[in-house]
Parts: sequence; structure tokens; C-alpha cells
Amino acid sequence: SDGAALYNKCKACHGADGSKVPAGAKTAVKGQSAADLEKKLTGYKDGSFGGEKKATMQRMAANLSPEDIKALAQYMSGL
Ligand code: HEM
Repeated sequence: SDGAALYNKCKACHGADGSKVPAGAKTAVKGQSAADLEKKLTGYKDGSFGGEKKATMQRMAANLSPEDIKALAQYMSGL
């Protein structure tokens, strides 16, 4: 999977460089490790992670394969 291409769908809310905090979110993705990002995205997908606005991310993560999540986490950790 191509992490940069996958991240295009996330930019509007998280910012091209990951520093934007989406409305209702508490944290930016910029500065987080690939391991943490992978854990969080997997958690949105299986319902075990999230805050008040988790429904938004559950919809996003539902379409991501484990390989997509790994590629995204790797890409975002370098932003
Ligand atoms: C939270 C990634 C698309 C809005 C998060 C978090 C990650 C993430 C890793 C957790 C941040 C943290 O708590 O440390 C992504 C990826 C996306 C994507 C990889 C594309 C595949 C979007 C889009 C929106 C959005 C399009 C807006 C429509 C939010 C919100 C939260 C969040 C509101 C906080 C949810 C909560 O309450 O748990 N995202 N995001 N994200 N994202 Fe995204």
C-alpha cells in the first residue's frame, strides 16, 4: 500500500503535515510513532479505541486493510 496516496483522504481533517487537530479531536497525528498510530487506527477499526468523535474515524478505518494501516502509520510518523 502507498501511505502517501492513502493519506490524501485524511488531509482535509488532519492537515497535509498532520499538525491540524480536527474539530472534536484532542491530538494531532504529527509527532506520533508508527507503532502508536497503527495501534490507534486498528483500534478504530475494531472499536476498541476512540473518543467522543470516534464514529468519524470508525467510518474511515472500516475501509482500511491491515496493510493500509501499516503504510499509513509509517507515512504519518514521518510527517
Ligand atoms: C482521530 C488518522 C481521516 C477526523 C484520528 C487519529 C488518527 C487518525 C491516528 C487518532 C489521533 C489521536 O487521538 O492520537 C486518520 C487517517 C485518516 C483520517 C489515517 C484517513 C484514512 C479523517 C477525516 C476526518 C478525521 C477525513 C474528518 C472527517 C478525526 C477526528 C478524530 C480523529 C474527529 C478524533 C476522533 C475521536 O474522538 O477519537 N485520525 N484520520 N479523520 N480523526 Fe482522523
